[in-house]
Amino acid sequence: MHSRLVGRLPLIPLPQRVVMAQGELSLRGAHLSVRVAQLVTPRLRSAVARFADGFVGARPVPLTVNCEQPGDQFPQLGVPESYRLRVAAAGIELWSESEWGVMHALGTLQQLRSDDSALPCCEIFDEPRFAWRGLLVDVARHFISAAALQRTIDGMAACKLNVLHLHLTDDQAFRFPSRSLPITNERQYSVAELSGLVEYAAQRGIRVVPEIDMPGHVTALLADHPHLGSGRTGKTRRFGVHEGCLDPSKESVYAAIGQLLGELAEVFPDHYLHIGGDEVSPGWWGESPEIAAFMSAQGIADVPALQSYFVNRVAQIVRSLAREPIGWDEVLHPDVAETMAVQVWRGASARDVALRSGHACIISANYYLDLLFPADVHYGFDPEAPMAELLACEDALLSDARLLHVAEGMRWTHQWRAGAAAGDTPGSRGAILGGEACLWSELVAEPHLDLRLWTRLPAIAERFWSSADIRDVENFYVRLIPWLDRLKEIADIDVMSSSRELVSAAGVTDPWMPLVELLEPTKWYARLLGEDALRARLTGTEMPQARPYHVDSPLNRVVDGLLPESLAARDLAGICERASAGNAAARGELADLAQRWRGFAARTDCLPELAASADQLSAVGEHLARYLHGELSAAATLAELQRLDVPH
Ligand code: ACM
Repeated sequence: MHSRLVGRLPLIPLPQRVVMAQGELSLRGAHLSVRVAQLVTPRLRSAVARFADGFVGARPVPLTVNCEQPGDQFPQLGVPESYRLRVAAAGIELWSESEWGVMHALGTLQQLRSDDSALPCCEIFDEPRFAWRGLLVDVARHFISAAALQRTIDGMAACKLNVLHLHLTDDQAFRFPSRSLPITNERQYSVAELSGLVEYAAQRGIRVVPEIDMPGHVTALLADHPHLGSGRTGKTRRFGVHEGCLDPSKESVYAAIGQLLGELAEVFPDHYLHIGGDEVSPGWWGESPEIAAFMSAQGIADVPALQSYFVNRVAQIVRSLAREPIGWDEVLHPDVAETMAVQVWRGASARDVALRSGHACIISANYYLDLLFPADVHYGFDPEAPMAELLACEDALLSDARLLHVAEGMRWTHQWRAGAAAGDTPGSRGAILGGEACLWSELVAEPHLDLRLWTRLPAIAERFWSSADIRDVENFYVRLIPWLDRLKEIADIDVMSSSRELVSAAGVTDPWMPLVELLEPTKWYARLLGEDALRARLTGTEMPQARPYHVDSPLNRVVDGLLPESLAARDLAGICERASAGNAAARGELADLAQRWRGFAARTDCLPELAASADQLSAVGEHLARYLHGELSAAATLAELQRLDVPH
């Protein structure tokens, strides 16, 4: 792979191998004369039409599609996805063993096309590194409509992700429309909507894996069906771990779960069903005399063993439905059957605990998009890296200048390393199936979905698809800009417009946009927890009641419309670098910016929530302008800028 050359192609994820040839194939004024050789299926025809229908010129250009085998009605883990693609002056030809590979080839073609519809002549050989390349969307904390999920699926297909994990239930809401366990007063999907989504995803080679979280995260379920567990809680609007738990001692609970999962399996054809298992707060289990009697009768030693008893029972139910269960890494317990797949989220170290005990793993640790980290942070974590490297990457975040304001909170998560032996490498009995990015939605409602996903998800998608030695993150960012442009056409997703609309609605007027474009939300869970709940957490208690946000909090502040990572700030860093290398044009650009920023000080129409940032930026402009005019030394300027470098 000639990565330097290939890195110039506007592709995300980068293919495994590209052989560049001379010349290009122009599709201007052309239509594609499609020949589907070998196999033709309706799904293949639709996929080809989605690509080819955009070309309506008179001149025919041949597109030959060779597909050996039809896929099943729904894709499953491990289906063949490789493809080969050749663009030559005479036309385009692609080959794949499967429909799924053809779709990937068409996606690559769509990205290869330049703005004036030319394709570079080349040959591409491509296949995924991992079979499981997912995105979790939490549709429980905030409802995300089927239409928004459809365009998310389009975007996923554009970066070759192949699993949409729907976190359907949580304390705040239960979005699965169960007949046996109906829930009142909640916005739910209809079965038709969910089935439509599964079908829409399958048309694009994407699996939909549903999650019903249990035995914790069930407050919404218990509010309507209190006999299933701890009856202490009614409906809840707040975030944070709740006390409500299913009762693991009652046969009627397993019967209800059996009916519920049976209904789930009717709607979702995927081989995997996710049964949650995270963040169980078993206070009630420890106090209930009935549960104590049950444990004694069953010879269950302690509450962790009780939880694994529950997990094993539910896993059996899943298997009785001819499906495989997945659980979050809290299910790891010596008593839990090793055939259960584990989704690793509590830091990198849980991975090797799971692998050593033979579990197949899906890696989500360090791929949490709700932490609002920049793309390069996620890009730096490799699902298969040796543990020492992963821990070093986690440690490095603590001294990353962009994350210093949350270093204390991030350090708190290192408690999860206890029990995991650093220095281990994978390669033990389990297998890494792949990974999933996760978007938890406490602070994400539908209007924020696109901008929280798409400047960073493509980095994770590339990590899951491309070869492990594709590490040049600067090159990734260069490709991201045209990729985001293409996303508008492919999926009707325009992150820049979304951001502008939201900050405008928050009261930002045009003169203030140059400031707002340079802002980023505070990172990690600083905002979700708030000062008091964060302080409490760091001192060993939790104060969920102190969290400033709940389900009904309006998400209409400037911060809600910001890109998690300012692309304008990245541009600015580039200008600064060129200026300090002596580039006169860049120096001029910087002088103009400094002048503009200085001007903020004189304006009287600043939104109160922007006032501190406006003061900061105008002071930066002042010092920078003086430096550029030779009135302030480099050292003094740097000292002033460092003094100004405080988040708020
Ligand atoms: C999780 O983030 N509680 C899986």
